[in-house]
Amino acid sequence: MKLNLKIWRQKGPNASGKMVDYQIDEVSPDMSFLEMLDVLNEQLISKGDEPVVFDHDCREGICGACSLHINGEPHGPGRGITTCQLHMRSFKDGDTIYIEPFRAKAFPVVKDLMVDRSAFDRIIQSGGYVSVNTSGNTIDANATPVRKENADAAFDAATCIGCGACVASCKNASAMLFVSAKVSQFSLLPQGQPEAKERVMNMVSQMDEEGFGNCTNTGACEVECPKGISLENIARMNREYLKASLTSK
Ligand code: SF4
Ligand code: FES
Repeated sequence: MKLNLKIWRQKGPNASGKMVDYQIDEVSPDMSFLEMLDVLNEQLISKGDEPVVFDHDCREGICGACSLHINGEPHGPGRGITTCQLHMRSFKDGDTIYIEPFRAKAFPVVKDLMVDRSAFDRIIQSGGYVSVNTSGNTIDANATPVRKENADAAFDAATCIGCGACVASCKNASAMLFVSAKVSQFSLLPQGQPEAKERVMNMVSQMDEEGFGNCTNTGACEVECPKGISLENIARMNREYLKASLTSK
């Protein structure tokens, strides 16, 4: 396959960026999207040009590092997959592909296609954990019964990989789907109850502080989320937040 690539190039956080045209041929339909970019980078390096910077780690849909906006969609065409799981067979010979970084005020561009998503880390640090007593009296997991529906819903919420596609797909750059998944995975389980109030209050407050926008229920996040995180989590987080606000001192 022969492809025309239009790629966002930006030297650094404060530089102004622009789309740059590249032609690439001999692309195999079996290559992943990131492998196609590897081939482009090898060609750029052999010509003495700067390779395109992009984020990646596991390359198997687990880590959430790959974060490209491809033809206007976070993680490109296809549903339930990350950029690293996207294959070139999704495109046709001669196609023009627009490749940009995730766009959001809270995700500043580091260079080219790589953005800084440490805002998500700070939200997790503000409450996305369960304090565990490690004094040696660990309770057997089976000693705390959990309803099957709750266990399943908590597991579904816990599959969020923190990729940020929900933010990138939202016209308000809202992080509600991400934060609500992180709140839900604990609020549905007995182990998450002791810190439930502080967790939701602190995580929502940190989310606002980071500059993410508000949710206006367009649902774009749910459509683009590679892990199928449901909007139900946002409704659950809103309930948890209301409950915490009414009962906190
Ligand atoms: S909710 Fe989905 S889109 Fe948002 S960070 Fe988690 S996995 Fe990515
Ligand atoms: S590189 Fe890890 S999810 Fe894509």
